[in-house]
Amino acid sequence: MPIVTIDGPSGTGKSTVTRAIADRFALPFLDTGAFYRAATLAVLEAGVAPEDGPAVIEVVKGITIDQKYGVTYLDGRDVSERIRDADVTGAVSAVSAHPEVRRMMVERQREWVEAEGGSAIVEGRDIGSVVFPDAEVKIYLDARPEVRAMRRAMESGEDPRTVAAAIERRDRYDSTRAVAPLTVPEGAVVIDTSDLAFDEVVEEVSRLVAAKS
Ligand code: DC
Repeated sequence: MPIVTIDGPSGTGKSTVTRAIADRFALPFLDTGAFYRAATLAVLEAGVAPEDGPAVIEVVKGITIDQKYGVTYLDGRDVSERIRDADVTGAVSAVSAHPEVRRMMVERQREWVEAEGGSAIVEGRDIGSVVFPDAEVKIYLDARPEVRAMRRAMESGEDPRTVAAAIERRDRYDSTRAVAPLTVPEGAVVIDTSDLAFDEVVEEVSRLVAAKS
């Protein structure tokens, strides 16, 4: 079985598509955003400022992050729900912009896939470009900004305008940072999900995965 990478900004359906493909092909799946979120939670709990590089790195060095069946563990504690809270969401871009943090995360993500037997579906922002540049199947999901904001607002129950502003801010941060900015990886198939039903996206990705299995 192959390594499948799913990259793209938030609100494009990465997580749901990843889980559906994992189910269909019996592949382990990894949500790398949750790794960055768990690291951010540890930083906040330590009382460290997300912009304070050296202090952030010290915290991240000292923690273990794991994920099984979509449940995320920080030092053995299930933090799956806590890492979706607004304080973590607001600080995660700053924490994930530190080059040394990214280096440690990339290493841990590769180790995770290795421990799972070497094939998996992995979603994030730099998976096809940095973490697994030689992956057999690379997908980049995209959608128009207003569609992404509406999807996120429906998930969280927040005002779509507030969500749109927050998404725009985080996108700008994620795609302009110096290390591993969000880009379409070389060789990735780009799918715009704006006008597609969820099943149509899953079918298209399934065809690509099946061709390499
Ligand atoms: O997908 P998400 O919203 O849970 O991601 C949280 C943050 O983590 C997002 O702002 C970008 C960052 N991230 C990253 O820099 N690299 C990844 N591979 C995954 C997420």
